[in-house]
Amino acid sequence: MLKAESICKSYPTRAGELEVLRNVTLELAAGRSAAILGPSGSGKSTLLHIMGALESPTAGRVWLDDCDPFTLPERELARFRNRKIGFVFQDHHLLPQCSVLENVLVPTLAGGPRDGAEERARHLLRQLGLSERLDHWPAELSGGEKQRVAMARALINQPRLILADEPTGNLDRATAEQVGELLATLPREQDVILVVVTHSESLARRCDQVYELAAGSLVPR
Ligand SMILES: Nc1ncnc2c1ncn2[C@@H]1O[C@H](COP(=O)(O)OP(=O)(O)OP(=O)(O)O)[C@@H](O)[C@H]1O
Ligand SMILES: [Mg+2]
Repeated sequence: MLKAESICKSYPTRAGELEVLRNVTLELAAGRSAAILGPSGSGKSTLLHIMGALESPTAGRVWLDDCDPFTLPERELARFRNRKIGFVFQDHHLLPQCSVLENVLVPTLAGGPRDGAEERARHLLRQLGLSERLDHWPAELSGGEKQRVAMARALINQPRLILADEPTGNLDRATAEQVGELLATLPREQDVILVVVTHSESLARRCDQVYELAAGSLVPR
């Protein structure tokens, strides 16, 4: 179960306090998915970062499976993120000096390499249509290919929560459909929770709940 309760987030800026999120509450059970839509700058990435324990809220709390990650000491928090959360970032964050296959394997390295990790990475990359790109460097990939590598990396540790920030934004329609289909079927197939920020109506329609973030508030559609 993912719970974000009364999340507020403000940034101090030169023009004064910028209030991005106002009392945002979201609850999702295992196996369920939510899509978040909203205009640029409305705080979608900020909310995703808070639910992924990458950024702390100004007020409010987050729980994943009854654990509030912001109460954990730094080392345990890093372990929690590594084990429980798969993040597909808006701008990939692939390691430029690692191949496609190595990038996908990075999250499996914490705590020693795991059995079957490479086989699983190859399988995921095949599902995402990247079998022919395993030894490429990220710089040798298209935007959409990078996004798909980032997705395989997010899934490699079989997380409890997948947070995806515009995962189909750089893809052509056919590939977007394919990647959207893979993402949207994960919650039911693997009992994980999915929160996806998207501008794609077709991806949003595949999710159990659809929200709009505007003026700092999250409103069900
Ligand atoms: N570190 C920061 N300091 C100050 N303001 C910030 C910071 N990070 C984000 N913001 C502001 O918070 C607002 C929300 O940003 P966010 O990245 O969450 O938007 P978004 O909805 O993801 O937009 P997009 O669709 O363009 O990705 C923006 O107005 C942005 O300028
Ligand atoms: Mg964003």
